[in-house]
Amino acid sequence: MIRFNNPAPLGDEAANLVQALAQGHLSGDGPFTRRSQAVLQDFIPGSRVLLTTSCTHALEMAALLLDAEPGDEVIMPPFTFVSTANAFVLRGLRPVFVDIRPDTLNIDERQIEAAVTHRTRAIVVVHYAGVGCEMDVIVQIAQRRGLFVIEDNAHGLFGRYRGRNLGTFGSLATLSFHETKNISCGEGGALLINDPELVERAEILREKGTNRSRFFRGQVDKYSWVDIGSSFLPSDILAAFLYAQLEARQDIQDARRKIWNRYSNHLTNWAQRQSVRLPWIPAHCDQSYHMFYMVMPSARARDGLIAHLKERGILGVFHYLPLHLSDMGRRCAAREAVCPVTEQISESLIRLPFYNRLTEDEQAQVIEAIHEFRG
Ligand SMILES: Cc1ncc(COP(=O)(O)O)c(C=O)c1O
Repeated sequence: MIRFNNPAPLGDEAANLVQALAQGHLSGDGPFTRRSQAVLQDFIPGSRVLLTTSCTHALEMAALLLDAEPGDEVIMPPFTFVSTANAFVLRGLRPVFVDIRPDTLNIDERQIEAAVTHRTRAIVVVHYAGVGCEMDVIVQIAQRRGLFVIEDNAHGLFGRYRGRNLGTFGSLATLSFHETKNISCGEGGALLINDPELVERAEILREKGTNRSRFFRGQVDKYSWVDIGSSFLPSDILAAFLYAQLEARQDIQDARRKIWNRYSNHLTNWAQRQSVRLPWIPAHCDQSYHMFYMVMPSARARDGLIAHLKERGILGVFHYLPLHLSDMGRRCAAREAVCPVTEQISESLIRLPFYNRLTEDEQAQVIEAIHEFRG
């Protein structure tokens, strides 16, 4: 069986876990959390990085930091994971779904401004497959209309837009370290705070509404309840695992780049013959090598290819179901959305097996099976 994802340790994970147990700091914000945050911070200069228990929780923190009123609106694509929307719905905000571009599958920046109302607080972008959204245009709209930009960068650590790291454009950005991501600790995430005015409150929200972070830095002599909040910080055991992966980031990215290029090189001609679309990376974007997808000519062809691969012991998988068509999406959206591109992509996209330790031999089997497919 060639699985879709097969997370495996790549570096010093086990050694770090032993060290974490030995050093006797198992709760959050221990030595490995600080080291992981420092690596991420180096890579995203200017941001304050806070590890969280998931990208979902980092998005929930972002929603809390907006300090919005129930009924306020957030613009986002419907082709995303439920957490992008849920985090805001939990605070009483209402998603406004704007369709995606057919080429990058990112929010269509040309449709954003028409969706802005007096209730809009933020534009939430998702850099699908780690390819940057059109941030020049999006940041301009946000500045003109006085809106926050939040980047759901679950896929895009190491991606760049016009030479600048994804996650540095919004006031806030989030990362995921779920086991399907390039860098993982099973379940984990981070909040990147690019607006210095939001840092102190973010620390408080993450520490159950207390100013415990200030206390640990010696800035107050006791810590107390100062705001709402929750427990968004991961155990240092998880951070120990994560730190090993962060240290192996070069090897991980090299391996993933090779896998991505091999799929692209061996599938381009076949795709042209079969009217299948492969990922498009604009010249001004450096992708994160997070996934390899194909857009099949029809839903029937996509489902046929999934079944064809399965018969050969290979797991290809679909991706997001359109949020605007889900029960919850219909109930909580600010208004009905017309998103034909999302609907077409959702029913015809397949993701191929993609993980750090996918071997050349396994990948050759996937490619051969695809070449044999007659849609
Ligand atoms: C775009 C996007 N945002 C958020 C998430 C949630 O990430 P996590 O599982 O770390 O909470 C995912 C999950 O894969 C995702 O694809």
